Amino acid sequence: KVSAGKECPAKGADESSAGERRVLCVGLVCLDIINVVDQFPLEDSDSRCVSQRWQRGGNASNSCSVLSLLGSSCSFMGSLSPGPVSDFIRDDFRKFRIDVSLVTEHAQCELPASIVIGNRRTGSRTILHMNRNLPDVSLDNFRKVDLSCFHWVHFEGRNAAEQVQMIQQVALFNTSVPHSDRVCVSVEIEKTRDELYQLFPLGDMVFVSKDVAQSLGFHSARAAVTGLYPRVRPGSTLICAWAELGADANKDGVLFHSDAFPPEKLVDTLGAGDTFNAAVIHTLSRGGGLQEALSFGCRVAGAKCGFHGYEDIA
Ligand code: ADP
Ligand code: FRU
Repeated sequence: KVSAGKECPAKGADESSAGERRVLCVGLVCLDIINVVDQFPLEDSDSRCVSQRWQRGGNASNSCSVLSLLGSSCSFMGSLSPGPVSDFIRDDFRKFRIDVSLVTEHAQCELPASIVIGNRRTGSRTILHMNRNLPDVSLDNFRKVDLSCFHWVHFEGRNAAEQVQMIQQVALFNTSVPHSDRVCVSVEIEKTRDELYQLFPLGDMVFVSKDVAQSLGFHSARAAVTGLYPRVRPGSTLICAWAELGADANKDGVLFHSDAFPPEKLVDTLGAGDTFNAAVIHTLSRGGGLQEALSFGCRVAGAKCGFHGYEDIA
């Protein structure tokens, strides 16, 4: 419970979670314009989609959706710009009962957007993303967070140099509170950008993507969590998801694995990784074990691949 007198984020529509410490996800929210096709389009062709929809996207934002659907109270921290697209996004956050009191709105900026082509035959998702000028969460923004309201902070690796300092803020906070009130930090290193690799030694838990693992020369999740372990802080947990092959983890040399749980029919793999991360965080933040968290992560992410969007997770 949060100590008396704390002004913690509102609970969205979920009054029952009043006073509970929450999960905070820091990162991107954007608009996903999802075009579902029967056949991947040829360049310079004119074809019809099976369906088209707008969806709130962005890794941290998607993970919030899943956390909330699983029953973890959560807050999203990121940037928005004013306008009708942001209104759509804010309404959707509300619908999912995600607190957005830590969102910063930037006038004169444009909201990032992705054009997504979802192939109904294969379940693949092809993403074209554009962020013109919306800034990431800054250290100044983060300094204002009352960390006593949270038991877990998840960083989607983005502006890593500043995120390093944000994580130092959390570490400093942790030295000032009893063990039971400490905040757990997870980081996601998903994009193959050298700048992000400075985050490896900083999380209590590090999610490294298949893309990053492959670009660093690893050909399986097990090889990645073994070979990349020297980059993380001893005692922390390194996790790597590998699509239809499930996921592996390493904690101090002890290895864990879960197979994937493929759906009957692969429908939509957009955000499978974000779903996996959220389900792992949900399990661990409630005292579950690492094997249980990996299996649950794969189970929820696999199920998610069988339907569009996230709502059917609940
Ligand atoms: P992303 O590409 O969205 O980052 P990943 O490919 O890393 O996601 O997959 C994350 C998790 O989602 C995997 O560990 C697995 O459990 C599940 N998953 C993804 N693709 C499939 C699939 N084709 N079949 C079954 N499960 C899948
Ligand atoms: C899925 C996702 C989408 C977004 C894109 C940004 O993981 O977060 O929602 O458009 O990735 O890279």
